Amino acid sequence: MNAGFIGTGHYAPEKVVTNADLEKIVDTSDEWIRSRTGIEERRIAEDDMDTSDMAYQAAVNALKDANITADQLDLILVATVTPDTPFPTVSCMLQDRLGAKNVAAMDLSAACSGFMYGVITAKQFIETGAYTNVLVVGVEKLSKITDWSDRNTCVLFGDGAGAAVIGPVSEGKGILSFELGADGSGGKYLLQDKDYISMNGREVFKFAVRQMPESSVNVVEKAGFKKEDVDYLIPHQANIRIMEAARQRLGISEEKMATSVKKYGNTSAASIPLALSEDVKNGKIKDNDLVVLVGFGGGLTWGAVAIRWGK
Ligand code: UT7
Repeated sequence: MNAGFIGTGHYAPEKVVTNADLEKIVDTSDEWIRSRTGIEERRIAEDDMDTSDMAYQAAVNALKDANITADQLDLILVATVTPDTPFPTVSCMLQDRLGAKNVAAMDLSAACSGFMYGVITAKQFIETGAYTNVLVVGVEKLSKITDWSDRNTCVLFGDGAGAAVIGPVSEGKGILSFELGADGSGGKYLLQDKDYISMNGREVFKFAVRQMPESSVNVVEKAGFKKEDVDYLIPHQANIRIMEAARQRLGISEEKMATSVKKYGNTSAASIPLALSEDVKNGKIKDNDLVVLVGFGGGLTWGAVAIRWGK
C-alpha cells in the first residue's frame, strides 16, 4: 500500500500587506526586503479570523479536491505553532466543524517543518493499513506572535493555510521516500520568547542553506532517482536565497521551483502545502512528475519527501 496525495487545498486571507506598508511602521525598505528575502507582500488575517478558521477553509477545499467527505477521514493532523488555544487543539475544532464524527485528531508542533512531519506521520498510518484517509493541515496566524516593531522579523512572516488528504494510491505513485530530523541544540536561534518570535537570522540562514539542499538530494537518492530526474521542487517558502541553494544543488531550472514566498512571505507550517495546492491547481505539477517537498524550521527541525505525483 503506497500513501500519496489524493487532494490538496489552501486558503490565504484577503488582506494584503506590501513592503511599502511596512516602510511606514519600521525602519526598512522595499529594496532591502526584496533583495534579502524575495518577499513582495504577505497576507494578514483579520482579528476575527483565527487559525482554526483558516484551517477549516483549506480543509474544505482539500476534501472537495479529493472527492471525499469528512466522515471518510480516519485522522486529522494539524501542524501549527499558532493554535487558537493550547487546548482544545485546532485539529479538534476542525473535526467538529467538518462534522468528521469521532475521527481521531491531534495537533503537531514542529514549527516550519510541521507539515512535513504531518505528511510523513500520515504515510505510516496508511502504509501499515491502519487508516485509509488522513487530513494533514499546515496553518499559521503568525501575525499574532509577530512583534510589529522588530524589523528583523516582522517583514518576513504572513498568515495562511494549506491542506492535503493523504491516502492510498496506485503502485509506483505517492510518497517514495522521506527524511526527518531535529537538532535541539539550535533551538535558541528561532523561538517564541514570551509573546513574540525571536530569531538569529544569520544562524538560521546558515543551517537552512546546508540542510535543505542536503535533505532534497537525500530523498531523491533514497527513492532511487538522480537529481536531474526532479520535475518540481517545493522548498519551505522562507527566503528566496535559501530556496535557491536547494534548487541549485539539485541543478534544476528556475521554473521548476515554487516561489510563492513573493506574495505570501514565510507562512511557517502553511508554506509548503499552500504552494503545493496552488501549483497543482495552476498546472505546474502534473501527473507522474517527480516532486520534492523540503522544509526546515525552529526546533531546529527538518523534513523532506520525494513523491511520484498522482493517484
Ligand atoms: O522559517 C524559518 C524562519 N527564518 C528564516 O528563514 C530566517 C533565515 N535568515 C534569513 O532569511 C536572513 O538572515 C534575513 C533575511 C533574516 C536577514 O538577511 P541577511 O542577509 O542575513 O542580513 P543580516 O542579518 O546580515 O543583516 C544585515 C543588516 C543588519 O544591519 P547591520 O548590523 O549590518 O548594520 C540588520 O540590522 O540589515 C539590517 N536589517 C534590516 N534592514 C532593513 C535587518 N532587518 C532589516 C530590515 N530592513 N527589515
